[in-house]
Amino acid sequence: MSEVIDSFHRTCNPAFVEKFYSIFLDADPRIRPLFKKTDFERQKGLLLHGMFVLLQYAEGKAVGEMAVERLGELHSRKRMNITPDMYPIWVDCLIKALAEKDPKFSPALEAKWRRALQKGIDVMMTKY
Ligand code: HEM
Repeated sequence: MSEVIDSFHRTCNPAFVEKFYSIFLDADPRIRPLFKKTDFERQKGLLLHGMFVLLQYAEGKAVGEMAVERLGELHSRKRMNITPDMYPIWVDCLIKALAEKDPKFSPALEAKWRRALQKGIDVMMTKY
């Protein structure tokens, strides 16, 4: 887990977030329209916040659990209606952005990132 946190510290900057959205918005035709009205200056901080929440949950922090559940509810059928099949796309785009922006990225680090993110994403999916 500490390798993932270190990687987050190397990448949690505006250039990383821009890279992520440049990949994510075109990753699936359903995605760009969802962000039509989005204020990207605000959304940039929210991406890093979301990553932080998932990592806190992966570390077993109680506050992480509440935050992950809240995020799941926000993205659920009743609110933003983000279907569970969209989450793997989000993860793959995040990994691509990390691979480009973290100079220490490696297949081993990728596996650790995926494992850490998936714990919280599983919870978000159950809230759909
Ligand atoms: C586990 C992965 C994800 C995390 C951690 C995450 C995190 C967040 C956060 C923190 C917000 C801001 C919530 C707020 O306003 O308080 C947000 C908003 C949003 N998310 Fe996600 N998200 C994830 C996956 C996705 C996916 C897969 C999609 C769509 C394909 C998506 C679409 C959106 C949209 C459309 C908004 C609202 C943007 C706006 O305010 O205009 N998210 N997300």
